[in-house]
Amino acid sequence: MKRLTTIAAARAYVAAERRAGARIALVPTMGALHEGHLQLVDHARRHADRVVMSVFVNPLQFGPTEDFARYPRDLERDAGLAEARGVDAAFAPPVEEMYPDGDSGVIISAPGLRDRLCGAFRPGHFDGVLTVVAKLFNIVTPDVAVFGQKDYQQAVLIRRMVRDLDFPLRIEVAPIVRESDGLAMSSRNAYLAARDRARAAALYRGLRAAHDAWRAGERDVAALRSAARAAIEAEGGIDVQYLEVVHPETLEGVDRAEPGSVIAVAAFVGGTRLIDNLILD
Ligand code: PAJ
Repeated sequence: MKRLTTIAAARAYVAAERRAGARIALVPTMGALHEGHLQLVDHARRHADRVVMSVFVNPLQFGPTEDFARYPRDLERDAGLAEARGVDAAFAPPVEEMYPDGDSGVIISAPGLRDRLCGAFRPGHFDGVLTVVAKLFNIVTPDVAVFGQKDYQQAVLIRRMVRDLDFPLRIEVAPIVRESDGLAMSSRNAYLAARDRARAAALYRGLRAAHDAWRAGERDVAALRSAARAAIEAEGGIDVQYLEVVHPETLEGVDRAEPGSVIAVAAFVGGTRLIDNLILD
């Protein structure tokens, strides 16, 4: 696996591979890799000849009271996992390489979409995400980029950016990878104390409860939300930030659920903020 830390080296790697006829996939991550990230690599492999993974904890997408400083970083461990999974090149630039001025003078933002769901509670977050992802797309110029459904709103925003700004690449979204008790894998699960880790599985039980009601014919969103909330609150110790049923593309709340509607939740479990979602089908 090639290890790239400068923009120039990443461009040179991709240029050489492309001259040799390779299709390039990009898997952007912030590291602290887990099986969810690694399945994105498998997915990327099915769509390209070379898989580039970026590992960059992007300061722009963290709010002032969020966990940028303590976000788990272990580049050697990540490099080992990425290489074992068949990543061809890991691009892990230092912050100064990505933001030589300490910040980005130009910000990409999607007003409207960015303010829904998580955006309502994390101002600036999705501007930071879109800006770094646009930079990564311009550096790596992938044919395809792979994201996880775990961050549903992020995937919608990135698709929208690619469409509206004519980025010449395709976005693939891979399914959520879960622990055996249903908890969606996340780098932030490492923050959970044992007791909270056990509790956290109730989030997925909540989504499942709504899904069961949906499958039994319930279409009223208030009823679906209370089914989910009841299952989550039965656990105790979980502070729900939002629990909504939204349109899959506009992310606007709906009153009646339809096939494709998304139920999305964010909650604090022992001080750690977790998110999850499920597409009603
Ligand atoms: P990060 O949280 O590291 O996630 C990187 C990618 O892995 C995202 O596309 C995310 O949706 C996906 N992912 C995380 N957990 C997953 C799971 N359990 N199942 C499936 N996919 C999962 O998302 C980011 O980093 C950043 O915002 C980034 C896009 C890299 C921009 O900085």
